[in-house]
Parts: sequence; structure tokens; C-alpha cells
Amino acid sequence: MALPSAADLPLDYDARELLADDDYAEPLIAGGVRCHGGFDADGRYRSPRTRHRAPAIRAWQARLETEGHPLVAIDPALLVPQYPNVDQARLLLREGVREPVVRRLTAISIVEGFGAIIRDVGHPGLAERVVEPIDGTALAHLAGGLFEAHARDEAGYREEGGHKQMWEAARDLALENPKIPGDVLLRMMGQGPARRRERVAHFPELDGDLEALVATMANVLALEVFAMGAFDWGETLLSDPEVSAEPLRAGALVGYIRRDERTHIEYLRTALSELSARTLRRVDGAEIPGRHVVDACLDRNLRALTGAQRDEQRRTIREAVAEAAAAHPHPKDLLERFDALETSWTPPERTGFEPET
Ligand SMILES: [Fe+2]
Ligand SMILES: [Fe+2]
Repeated sequence: MALPSAADLPLDYDARELLADDDYAEPLIAGGVRCHGGFDADGRYRSPRTRHRAPAIRAWQARLETEGHPLVAIDPALLVPQYPNVDQARLLLREGVREPVVRRLTAISIVEGFGAIIRDVGHPGLAERVVEPIDGTALAHLAGGLFEAHARDEAGYREEGGHKQMWEAARDLALENPKIPGDVLLRMMGQGPARRRERVAHFPELDGDLEALVATMANVLALEVFAMGAFDWGETLLSDPEVSAEPLRAGALVGYIRRDERTHIEYLRTALSELSARTLRRVDGAEIPGRHVVDACLDRNLRALTGAQRDEQRRTIREAVAEAAAAHPHPKDLLERFDALETSWTPPERTGFEPET
């Protein structure tokens, strides 16, 4: 049966539809936990809550295309290389210095769990604050299912595990239930100041909730796109039989998570593109092109992610590696070999979202 073309798909869905699963022939069980998503009769993995959400996003994107508006896209050249990279992580695991890798995998699972905060983003009566109509767009469905589906995918829902639990299971399968350092979250919080500064209002002429909505979507989109590098890293590392006790099952789990993330990237870039194509109302009644706000938020986030935040994260991880290497018989030699494997990288000059001068 031919699939309907995206332009023929409906543009309006209720929350129940946007949260609806496909029919699965078999559930996904990871680490003894029933997780979201499942397998069809041919054994293919199906992402959770995509029965209507996936075609809905295609329909909204087709509408943008028909109306001649481009889809926001983040240049892959901006993606910060993983640290430790796959070769560095392999070296540490081979040498029995497992803690930095356990720490990194645990940090990824914690960040996934934090993704649930997207459901707490204010919904500032968008229809009144956007000059043009928003019916039949992703924007009109953010509070009506899209944010909730995203939150459930990341942190799990009720008895069902999400990405947080899937990463934990992948880690525990591959590294055979390693001891988890007790201070992973604490050290992650230590990297916070750069991120907290981002909460400052940059568009005081806009309603604070509206700016927070755009800033959060831009931030989460950038994080989701950057996370693709972490998924490649995790999938390659945990699929390697030399360092992974369960290369097939652990690697496959990361692959399923990566599949699910596409939906997050696609709805967020769709909603941001719809805002970019519209005009926002300022609190004083004047108007401002949505594109100014969207681009400024993306530019700021991408600069932070490729600059200060990257440097801070790298420094924290390098310290943890040096600490863990101290127990190795030849720590100095190990650290030299570790440093020699680092991916050299310079952030591109431009994010592609610079304000027009
Ligand atoms: Fe996720
Ligand atoms: Fe995500």
C-alpha cells in the first residue's frame, strides 16, 4: 500500500493521538525493565508514541515547504567531538580504568532523565502572541501532546522505561553492572554556571514566558543534535566485543534511542522554523520578526556549547580521568597515551545564526 504523501496528511491532532503508540508484536525489555517502543512483526524497532506523531511532523514540515519557508538546520561542522572519544574510552577500558567511561555513560542517562523538564515549559498563549495564525502547525501542538510525548520518551512514564533507563541498561549490560560513582550528578551540577547564565532575558521587550519558550526549544534542539555524536560514540563503543560484555544487546539499545531522538529533533526544528516564519508581538504592542528571536537563541546556545561549555566539560572529564588513572600501575604513561588519542578540533567561526547587521 502506498503511503499518503505528506501534503495529504492531517495537520490537526489531539494529545491522545500524539501520545499513541504503534501496535507492537513484541515489547522492548532492557535490563529487566519494560521500556517504551517495541518491535513489529518483522522484528523492526518502532519508536514510542509515533503512530500519529511521526506523520504529523511530516505534514507540518510539508506545509512549511509548500509555503516556501526553510527548515532550521544546525551545521554538523559545529558538533563537538566526544571526549573521551571512542579510542580513548577503549584504551581506558582495556587498561582497567573503567570509572571515567562509567561516569560518562551515567551522565548521559542523567541528562536524558532531565529531558522531562520540557513538559514544564510555560505555554504563553502562543496564538495571541504570534501575529499570524498558528492553526495546523507544530507550534499549536506543543502543549497539546508534543512536549508531553518528548518528556515521556526521555524519562520514562509510569512503569515504562525511557531513554534514562535504556542508557542505564546499555551501560550495565556492556560493563557488567559496574559500580556507579556516587558523585556523578554533583560533578555535573558543578559545570552549571555557564548554563545558568543563559536564563538572562535577552529580549526584554518580549513576554518572559515567550522568550523562555523559544530559548528552551533552541537549547533543547541544539542539545539533541549534539547528542547524536554521543549516540554514535555509545553505539560504537558498546558494540565492540573487545570492551563490551554484551555487544549486540547494548549496542542495539543505543541504536533504538538514536532512532527515537530523530522525532525530537524534527518536531523542535519544525516549531522553531514556524516561529521564524512568523511575527511576534512585543509587550508594548509593536512587532518583531520571529526569526530575530529564534536565530539569536540558537546562536547563543551554539556558541556556548562549542565554547565555554565544551571547555568546562573537557576539563572536568580530564580531571576525572587523571584521578581514576592514579590507581593504574603506570598512570603517567597511560595519561600520555590518552592525551595523544584526543580528537583535535577548533569550533567553526560562525554558527550560521548570527544576527544580520
Ligand atoms: Fe533522549
Ligand atoms: Fe531527545
